[in-house]
Amino acid sequence: MIAVKDIAYVRYQATDLDAMEAFMTDFGLKTKVRTANALYMRSCSDAHHVHITELGESNKTLGFGLLAQSASDLDQLAARLNTTVEDNPEPGGGKRVRFTDPDGFLVDVIHGQATLAEIPFREPMAMNPATGRQRFGKVIRLKPQAASVTRMGHLALLVTDFKKSFEFYCDVLGFKPSDTYYAGSPENKIAAFMHCGLGSSFTDHHTLALISSPDGVPRFDHSAFEVIDLDDLVQGGEYLKSCGHKHSWGVGRHIQGSQLFDYWRDPFGHKVEHWTDGDLVNDETPVGNAPVTNEELSQWAPSLTPEFFA
Ligand SMILES: [Fe+2]
Repeated sequence: MIAVKDIAYVRYQATDLDAMEAFMTDFGLKTKVRTANALYMRSCSDAHHVHITELGESNKTLGFGLLAQSASDLDQLAARLNTTVEDNPEPGGGKRVRFTDPDGFLVDVIHGQATLAEIPFREPMAMNPATGRQRFGKVIRLKPQAASVTRMGHLALLVTDFKKSFEFYCDVLGFKPSDTYYAGSPENKIAAFMHCGLGSSFTDHHTLALISSPDGVPRFDHSAFEVIDLDDLVQGGEYLKSCGHKHSWGVGRHIQGSQLFDYWRDPFGHKVEHWTDGDLVNDETPVGNAPVTNEELSQWAPSLTPEFFA
């Protein structure tokens, strides 16, 4: 069994590439490639792209890409799935294994994609908390601007058969649970935050989240992008607000994963998250199991509204 090392990108279909490009630019991404039929946007990281939009006749969530640790892992995965390793025909190239998951999400596991020069962004803010002062003789002066999305963070999927999807992502792609949610009895798990199974190496608390779809329709719940720090998160949110974009929920701090978060809606209603300051786990970190309640979603935040669950 292989273990992927991170998420690479998310893939949407939309009826208007201009509208998606304008919003995601305000959100903090930059256009890398735009063709007649697709939009590829990048973060500040060296990843070729982190957000794909394909032009189509409806708006929907299509799938995502994951990063393999090695070329030989692609060979192993292809053999496991009885498929082949192919040249990646999309911008950035490299190799890929393409398949669909139990809900029909299109999954690309890629390796050898071209990398880019990183886009410089400011240093995380030196803070002067009550103890452990960090900033001496220096002031803070920030300009209103889009957040600096430093990298793709994670994807949350609404799935039709939680147990089936959970077993698929564990058995085929090496994900491991960091925290699970249950309904009723603790054995009745209906959601999981999953980290990349990288042994003793620390990695994001969740790269993939699986949530039982409340209406039986598979789709993304949200995709999430890391920003520099709390100032970047809030300032980037104020910028989105000034552009007239639709806010969903935040700012707050999650429980499972501990991230500071802020959720927005793209022009097609998809939820996208800015986050920073998340937990890091490895395969030895204890796995939690909590009851599923709205109170479990944050330690502090504005009150949840039905909009967040729409
Ligand atoms: Fe998230």
